[in-house]
Amino acid sequence: MTNGLTRRSALVLAAGAAAPAMAKDDVNGVVPKGKMRVWQLGEQKSFDTLELVERKIPTPGPGQALIKVMYAGIAARDQGIAMERFPVPRGPRPKTLIPLSEGAGDVIAVGAGEQRIKPGVRVTSNHWANWINGPWSPDNYAADVGNTIDGWLAEYTLLPAQCLSVLPDSVDYRDAATLAGSGVTAWHALHEVARVRSDDIVLTLGTGGVSSFGLILAKAAGAKVVITSSSDEKLARARELGADVTVNYRANPEWGKEVVEKTGGRGASVILENVGPTTLDQSMAAAAVNARIVMIGTGREPEKPPRINGMYLKNLMLKAISAGSVEMVDALLATMAHNRLKAIIAKEIRFAEARQAYYEIRDGDPFGKIVVKVS
Ligand SMILES: NC(=O)c1ccc[n+]([C@@H]2O[C@H](COP(=O)([O-])OP(=O)(O)OC[C@H]3O[C@@H](n4cnc5c(N)ncnc54)[C@H](OP(=O)(O)O)[C@@H]3O)[C@@H](O)[C@H]2O)c1
Repeated sequence: MTNGLTRRSALVLAAGAAAPAMAKDDVNGVVPKGKMRVWQLGEQKSFDTLELVERKIPTPGPGQALIKVMYAGIAARDQGIAMERFPVPRGPRPKTLIPLSEGAGDVIAVGAGEQRIKPGVRVTSNHWANWINGPWSPDNYAADVGNTIDGWLAEYTLLPAQCLSVLPDSVDYRDAATLAGSGVTAWHALHEVARVRSDDIVLTLGTGGVSSFGLILAKAAGAKVVITSSSDEKLARARELGADVTVNYRANPEWGKEVVEKTGGRGASVILENVGPTTLDQSMAAAAVNARIVMIGTGREPEKPPRINGMYLKNLMLKAISAGSVEMVDALLATMAHNRLKAIIAKEIRFAEARQAYYEIRDGDPFGKIVVKVS
């Protein structure tokens, strides 16, 4: 395999090369005739109201790509989207919306005029379909894969070609299906905001999707890593995966001090705040002087607001982020290929049982990501 193409996709492209030139409004590639199975949101009352239905396989229009889905990934926000609780936009989504923001598969066909993405390539998407590069804008919610436009939980999905990234050969579909929500968020925090270096001590809270990527990406950058968890078993696993320091936040509610003690009095110079305002006081206590704290978790409001005065003595930087751009997904894929990184995947669930993925992530047991095997 070369140039990001599988052997199979190279054959498809070779066959495509011999084909006659297309009419202007033709699709490039072959759209299978027949039906596909898709999950759709349905009533959005509980995970049980997600529906598995059949639809005609769609034809891509200009700017679109039809993808045969291999894997889809689930992230924390998908729970809120399935239950009408995710706040942007307010209210229910169309019952027919296909959920899940993360996935990977093969491009089968593209709409007229598409030059960048070709049939046969292996791809993943960014979930902000309009955020190609540059600074964040809340307008990105207008085209949010799995939230305001169709997502990945289907045998075939139609996505804007501009949000797709071609997979390097060494990144498999399963790992690529964990990047649009979790992987790119950790990448954005570490490389775009914190500019992580090998002399940093990175604290990443919890053992969920974002934190597991925080661990592997910070280690790949040569930094020391501190992980917190409610479970000693998960902390043991974190050490196996390379964490240098582990702290049980349930056993010690004042865990910020413990982080400082276990890092030789220095504290963490980069913090991935994967929980939210409720843990910010402890994160500030765990911080080194001049630390960069990246706000990622969107958990509930705390009963008492965090003591922001704590920021001044240490000159802390606080910056919130919203996942990442297509350009960041490309950079993450290049880093994964260069360092031969693998996602930490806790569980793989079959397509027909996809509801189970929602229950698993709600119950909070996995260390790392849960993925759905589609094909
Ligand atoms: N801003 C963004 O761009 C962005 C992007 C992705 C996700 N998010 C948000 O970030 C948060 C994490 O997302 P995720 O997908 O990684 O979730 P997840 O896979 O469901 O993981 C959640 C983890 O949080 C940990 N946790 C819960 N309470 C904690 C506490 N008090 N201290 C430390 N850890 C605690 C748990 O770890 P243990 O089980 O080990 O205790 C759990 O595994 C969610 O709020 C999500 O909505 C935001």
